[in-house]
Amino acid sequence: MVQVTELGYLGLSVSDMPAWKAFATDILAMEIAEGATDQLCQLRADYWHRRIDLVATGEDNIAYFGLRVAGREEFSQMQDQLTAAGIDFRVGTVEEAQERKVTAILKMKDPDGYNVEIFHGPCVERHKPFHPGRRMHHNYVLGTAGLGHIVLGQKDVEAAYRFYTALGMRGDVEYPNEQGGIENGPTFMGCNDRDHTIAFGMGDEHRIYHLGLQFESFDDFGLTYDTAMEKGVGFFFHPGRHSNDNMVSFYVHTPSDWLIEMGWGGNVGPKPQSEYYPDDIFGHHHQHKDGSLSKLS
Ligand SMILES: [Fe+2]
Repeated sequence: MVQVTELGYLGLSVSDMPAWKAFATDILAMEIAEGATDQLCQLRADYWHRRIDLVATGEDNIAYFGLRVAGREEFSQMQDQLTAAGIDFRVGTVEEAQERKVTAILKMKDPDGYNVEIFHGPCVERHKPFHPGRRMHHNYVLGTAGLGHIVLGQKDVEAAYRFYTALGMRGDVEYPNEQGGIENGPTFMGCNDRDHTIAFGMGDEHRIYHLGLQFESFDDFGLTYDTAMEKGVGFFFHPGRHSNDNMVSFYVHTPSDWLIEMGWGGNVGPKPQSEYYPDDIFGHHHQHKDGSLSKLS
């Protein structure tokens, strides 16, 4: 079976581009790529041409995301695999591939209607080192683990599980649902050294719930926490440690109100066998809009 190998890039619809540009540089420490306009702003986080497109559409949601396959052969085999699984897709045009700066691209929708792209051959600008938007000690954990992970609302968790399994991902429910049972609980799917690349089952609205990013250095985790505090960014979860990926993280509100999880220390390496966890290891106290804190269970 051919497998997607990583979350390569994503596009975000945003309603407040100036606020997003400031958030991207001041909080995320990402680089605004050359040629940014009021309509399209591309963010770099390593040598890749870009990792995130901010698109001023007046909405606030994920617009599309790109899952990588290794190369030309896998790109061809993936098309056979999608056909066998009954998944509708089309091969993108040369112009569409160039728009994303990739060699070739497939376009499709997942069961909830998210725009999924499968690509190979991203443009990697080895001649242009990453220039962070503010000071950083080291970098994000990227490389073979991809950009990070996304959590999306899905109305039909089982259909989503089947779709992402057909793309070569693997995973299962890892925390109980709100009633304490395991059926239809949060499901985490992985395809590389990162514990999970996509997750769902935490809500059924058609939107991104959070994007998870991971720092190489605990000092960058701390520097970003301090910076978010100083800039008055709204917190959703204060630091804690997840049981499933072992990542120490906090969650802040983006200018689109959905969340970014900033983490450090997650496991590297897929789980050999499935497990689920009644609770996190510690922390992740939820900050309410009035500033009060409580533990969500
Ligand atoms: Fe997360």
